[in-house]
Amino acid sequence: MCGIIGYLGDKQAAPILMDGLKRLEYRGYDSAGVAVLETSIHSSLTKSERKVDDLIAKIKANEPTGHLGIGHTRWATHGKPTIVNAHPHSDCYARIMVVHNGIIENFAELKAELEGKGHEFTSETDSEVIPHLVEDLYKGDLVTAVRQALQKVRGAYAVALYSHDDPELLIGARLNAPLVVGLGESEWFVASDITAIIPYTKRVLVLGEGEMVAISPVGPVVSSLDGVAVDPKIVHVDWDVSQAQKGGFDHFMLKEIQESPEAAANVLRGRIGDDGAVHFNEFEASDAELERIRNVKLLGMGTSLHAAMIGEYVIEDWAGIPAKADDASEFRYRRPLVGEDTLAVVITQSGETADTIMGMRQALERGALTVAVTNVVASSAAREAQGVIYLQAGPEISVASTKTFICHVISQYLLAMRLAEVRHRLPQERVAELVATLRGLPEAIRSVLALEPRIKELAQKYSRYSNFIFVGRGINYPVALEGALKLKEISYVHAEGTSGGTLKHGAIALLDEQFPVVAICTESPVREKMVSNVHEMAARDAPALALVTEGDRSLDGIAADLLVMPPADEPASAILNTVALQLFAYHVAVALGTDVDQPRNLAKSVTVE
Ligand code: G6P
Repeated sequence: MCGIIGYLGDKQAAPILMDGLKRLEYRGYDSAGVAVLETSIHSSLTKSERKVDDLIAKIKANEPTGHLGIGHTRWATHGKPTIVNAHPHSDCYARIMVVHNGIIENFAELKAELEGKGHEFTSETDSEVIPHLVEDLYKGDLVTAVRQALQKVRGAYAVALYSHDDPELLIGARLNAPLVVGLGESEWFVASDITAIIPYTKRVLVLGEGEMVAISPVGPVVSSLDGVAVDPKIVHVDWDVSQAQKGGFDHFMLKEIQESPEAAANVLRGRIGDDGAVHFNEFEASDAELERIRNVKLLGMGTSLHAAMIGEYVIEDWAGIPAKADDASEFRYRRPLVGEDTLAVVITQSGETADTIMGMRQALERGALTVAVTNVVASSAAREAQGVIYLQAGPEISVASTKTFICHVISQYLLAMRLAEVRHRLPQERVAELVATLRGLPEAIRSVLALEPRIKELAQKYSRYSNFIFVGRGINYPVALEGALKLKEISYVHAEGTSGGTLKHGAIALLDEQFPVVAICTESPVREKMVSNVHEMAARDAPALALVTEGDRSLDGIAADLLVMPPADEPASAILNTVALQLFAYHVAVALGTDVDQPRNLAKSVTVE
């Protein structure tokens, strides 16, 4: 997730681009850049490998003049955050300037094809193929060349671009990534979201999937990528800047939960073939190296430890390798049995959690093959591990992790499939089922997000209790732990998670009519066991809120409340149930009036022991 902005109008472009980038910084902030057309043969290009403020200082020292320009603040996916990789990118003659947000899945083949034709690339990014493709296809009509170029691109993009050949033309296009067009008085904007342009205009043209806009001084023209004219949809937004940053939601946490379908699509993008073969760009361990693995250690803290526990479950189940999720703060002070036949999977959203990093070093010292799973490019974990699996979820601002947990879990599914592939452990039909499950996740998550009104109603009802137990079994046991963690983190209500089997060994003593239980009873091989657990809880008068699969009547009249979930297989259920519990925690916290995005005493990234 990056932030992009473009401007064409009667004012100076540079100050507007800088201002817009500053407000888009929450979308990515590891490097930034701006291009302004100064004359029809020269663009001023300014880049920084640091945050937007550094870029602004550079631009102010030598401010370009011109009325057409584009800018970008980056959240790296392909290539490190360096000047060379910072956007805008251009063609061989620096005439076509492009900023891009998204992931181009077929960039390697497009790049090879273009290099074969003599194009010279300077960066490691996937984005750089766009200006070269446009250059290659340009025959005097920029709009047509852009359209043809984008037809060759597979993946996700929001782009803004201009060319020296058309000094009064700004083009924007989008597919599976957001882009809005702002309509001012004699000025036009394209931007990743309304935040960037809200001080300038509240009239916004909403670009649909697979549509492009060509803006000239006579105004914008919208068309599909097939060249069919589209009637522009213009809306008036009345958000202030802070609402706009949160996408109109009251909190970043809710916005980030709502971004889960997009994040799930991004973590899968380009990583799984139709045959189920898994490929990780930055973790290129060979089949031979992976065959040598005899045990897997998964390290993490907090939410990431829960993702590690799900990883443990699927790696053992699918790949048949002994796996163990470990609290990194304990692991680092033990003398763990780790050696050259160990794969250490280091799960950390920020890539900076002190205990997790120390655990990783311990594993590295003992000769383990180490892969970091993180959302932050070039973070400490990413730099020190031998391989990296990036979550590609975009920045997460709310302290409580939501969309990155979903991506962590999906990355564990992919890793388990990769390990299973090397060992030929899963029959092809099972692999095909898993591929279908993974690909269906964005849509399935959307169907859970649609349950929000019901979840809110339940949360308001349950917000009067001061204690909760979350119960699950199998792959949904870590989900129960995560549900409890989310609730206590943001609502300050005491909540603990337990496995269904453990309940009888202690926690059941707590139950009475004032002590509710959230029970995950969706379809799975252990569903009936969970149903029995709910009977035991109800017998102790504990109000049970049970998550059940649509059509399942077995807890009617037993559980105090049912949350009916869409049908899903077990791996998908872990994700869907998590999203439901995230929404539940969120609405309990809102009902209690806590500081949802910055809960007391907690930090997003715990860089001390
Ligand atoms: C803190 C955060 C949690 C997070 C944990 C691990 O406790 O508040 O949300 O799960 O750190 O963070 P990491 O960046 O390593 O995933």
